[in-house]
Amino acid sequence: MQRNINSDHIIIKAEQDGVQVIGLTRGSDTRFHHSEKLDTGEVMIAQFTEHTSAIKVRGKAKIISSYGEIEAGK
Ligand code: TRP
Repeated sequence: MQRNINSDHIIIKAEQDGVQVIGLTRGSDTRFHHSEKLDTGEVMIAQFTEHTSAIKVRGKAKIISSYGEIEAGK
């Protein structure tokens, strides 16, 4: 399968209430375009897209991607 900007998924599992998953815009202007709140145990599966070049996670969460696993908020 051809890899493109739409092929990468990341999984975010909240380990506390109020974890924020923030999408940042692609292109010369880098800004927040979407913020999602997750409570404990909630999972979000997100992609990098035409509109999203970076994802910021605020709070205690497990992040799983093809690069491995990392804990945010420790
Ligand atoms: N409309 C956004 C997009 O297509 C939705 C989105 C995709 C998003 N990945 C995200 C929002 C990651 C927040 C975080 O790019």
